[in-house]
Amino acid sequence: MDQELRNELCHYFTDCHRFHLTADELLITCGSQEAMDLVARALVKPRDAVMLERPTYSTAIDIFRRQGATIVPVEIHPYGYDMEQVEKLMQTYKPRLFYLNPTFQSPTGYIVPAEQRKRLVELAERYQCLLLEDDPYRDIYFGEEPPRPLFAYDTAGWVIYLRSFSKYIALGIAIVACRPSIMNYLIKAKLLSDSGTPVQLDNSVAKRASAREKMTANLALFFCYIEGYFETLTAVDGLTHFYPILSKHFRSLAQ
Ligand SMILES: Cc1ncc(COP(=O)(O)O)c(C=O)c1O
Repeated sequence: MDQELRNELCHYFTDCHRFHLTADELLITCGSQEAMDLVARALVKPRDAVMLERPTYSTAIDIFRRQGATIVPVEIHPYGYDMEQVEKLMQTYKPRLFYLNPTFQSPTGYIVPAEQRKRLVELAERYQCLLLEDDPYRDIYFGEEPPRPLFAYDTAGWVIYLRSFSKYIALGIAIVACRPSIMNYLIKAKLLSDSGTPVQLDNSVAKRASAREKMTANLALFFCYIEGYFETLTAVDGLTHFYPILSKHFRSLAQ
């Protein structure tokens, strides 16, 4: 039913990130939140260890807690992770997965550098820990393109890639990309809750996603509107890095 859209998305991912995917390796979900929930239900058992960044997207904490997972926090810093700490945690806890948001991380805005991304994929393979890469903010940047997704370095199937378009195209549209062995579990879990995501978009998702000029203008306007709100948030720990970056870019764009 959504084959055409999935084919279109395969071209989009190949052009933008040099991912080589087939339509069968993509699943359309109702937002990345649904995708996280599917991954948790399909792949995490009670008492499995799950590594989460600290701080992280709070819904992820709720989803993995509800699944009965033991949460193992991993500090995230402006320079990314302490990779020795990550390896030690993988050795000690043998986690089932590490949920991470390495590009414009929520809530800090930090970006994990490319060397760490490669290393994380190697560690995932060595310690057999799935990496659940949540990447909803990738296209929302001004200036330097962020490093390639972890998924681009994965050859052995340890990375599950979540890409939401709900932040700037339409609410409730996200894609999960993973290798068939994992996809089979996710499809089974999805069929227990519905028989497919209603596809509200035609196959122009990829074209819209690359309409950067329009997106930039809209975001600049939006930022002017919410600026006062962000100023209040600057006081909150973890956002102090995020706000000045946003402020600088949006002010110049809005002029
Ligand atoms: C890191 C992160 N992942 C996922 C989501 C939710 O995405 P979606 O609207 O696609 O469910 C958000 C915010 O809403 C987020 O900040």
